[in-house]
Amino acid sequence: MSLTVIEKRSIDVFRFKVLPCLSVMLLLLLPSAKAEMKHSDNHMDMHAKMMGMLNQQEDTRELVRYPKPMYDMTLSNMREHLRAIHLVQQLVAQGRYTEAAEASEKGLGMGNNHGTEGHGMEHQFMPEGMKTLGSQMHKRSADLALTLRDAEITDDLKAIFTSLSQVTSNCVACHDAYRLEPMQ
Ligand code: HEC
Repeated sequence: MSLTVIEKRSIDVFRFKVLPCLSVMLLLLLPSAKAEMKHSDNHMDMHAKMMGMLNQQEDTRELVRYPKPMYDMTLSNMREHLRAIHLVQQLVAQGRYTEAAEASEKGLGMGNNHGTEGHGMEHQFMPEGMKTLGSQMHKRSADLALTLRDAEITDDLKAIFTSLSQVTSNCVACHDAYRLEPMQ
């Protein structure tokens, strides 16, 4: 079967016009396809790295168990601690040092009993190191309150932040070392 002139022409158009055009387009697309592959390789790498990190970051904090009501009370008390730090910062920013001192005493001081039975109830469940970090934090917050009251006269922000970070270093140290669970 012989080809008609028109059929021959359209084959020629395909061979000499469409095909070269397609190959050029393909060549142009190749680098971006390669980049895409590289990107997904990177993604896999990152994924693997993160999984490795998670495995390495095994929780080595010492587990401390409290009776359930004491556990709930302690966590609620912790949230009050954070609120107190937040409040102190806010009040300091407004130059309201005496109120900041009161917020520190109320939210972080010894007066801030853990639980309705008064402070010390959970001491029997705490490892020695945890007890030390806890009572040191309360003492340091009393120092913070003093520094804040002094600031009414001295306006010494550096002293305030130094004192505040002494308190928060105990938050950090204890959180790094211990975790809690309610007793079953
Ligand atoms: C003596 C130890 C100790 C000190 C000091 C301490 N915490 Fe905690 N805190 C803990 C433990 C233990 C947990 C429970 C962590 C866990 O089980 O993962 C906790 C939990 C918390 C939580 C989570 C509460 C929730 O509802 O889950 C907050 C917020 C918190 N602490 C804030 C603070 C702040 C702010 C300070 C310092 C001003 C502070 N803590 C000082 C031991 C401490």
